[in-house]
Amino acid sequence: MVFKVAVMSVSTRPKPYNKFISQYVETRKPDSYDGLVIEHIDLAEENLPAYNELISPKKMPRENPTSHYLHEHTRNWSAKVLQYDAFIIVTPQYNWSIPASLKNAIDYLCNEWRGKPVGLVTYGTRGGFRAANHLVEVLGGGLKMEVCESKVQLKITDESYEETQKLGRLSADRESAWKADGSEKAIEAMYSELLRKLEANQENQKFR
Ligand SMILES: Cc1cc2nc3c(=O)[nH]c(=O)nc-3n(C[C@H](O)[C@H](O)[C@H](O)COP(=O)(O)O)c2cc1C
Repeated sequence: MVFKVAVMSVSTRPKPYNKFISQYVETRKPDSYDGLVIEHIDLAEENLPAYNELISPKKMPRENPTSHYLHEHTRNWSAKVLQYDAFIIVTPQYNWSIPASLKNAIDYLCNEWRGKPVGLVTYGTRGGFRAANHLVEVLGGGLKMEVCESKVQLKITDESYEETQKLGRLSADRESAWKADGSEKAIEAMYSELLRKLEANQENQKFR
């Protein structure tokens, strides 16, 4: 059985750190997990305006919500999210929370997210733990997503941002630091948990 997992980059500003961190996370999927097919969603390319639907996504039909939205951008976003069995959200911390772009993209939909497993990767000077805490509330609350316990909180600095931009990749020192502080292991644990949750969901569906 193959499960489709989207790694979501959520920063919409030019030259984000996000794309390098998403690549880092994608390349750390354990080789033995060939049942997980990783694809990439970049919110900067989705061009979603600030939420402007007429009817709450919660009121859309559970099985086929897509065609019921008012706007084409929402229908496109709904169709894209529906394709995936699970998500890994890679997000910076902005002002002690998550970026507006991420909250906006989440708010557009409901049943498309509901019940699906999700892994969280945050980054900031202290690993973005406040953004992670807020995301647990947002995703695990009304949307009832299955949030992985193993959270990845990557520490960055202004200098490491500049260095990454200059090199066009993460520096060996940055990767070594994340290995030393256990972040690399936390990513593996997150993948392992995602796979377990996906398999358990599949088993449950057989008995419905
Ligand atoms: C609007 C804004 C708010 C920020 N707030 C925080 C914060 O609360 N904590 C933190 O550690 N870093 C914060 N930063 C620094 C970001 O972690 C850093 O700029 C990082 O590169 C942002 O990721 P991005 O380049 O992928 O957008 C903030 C940056 C911006 C632009």
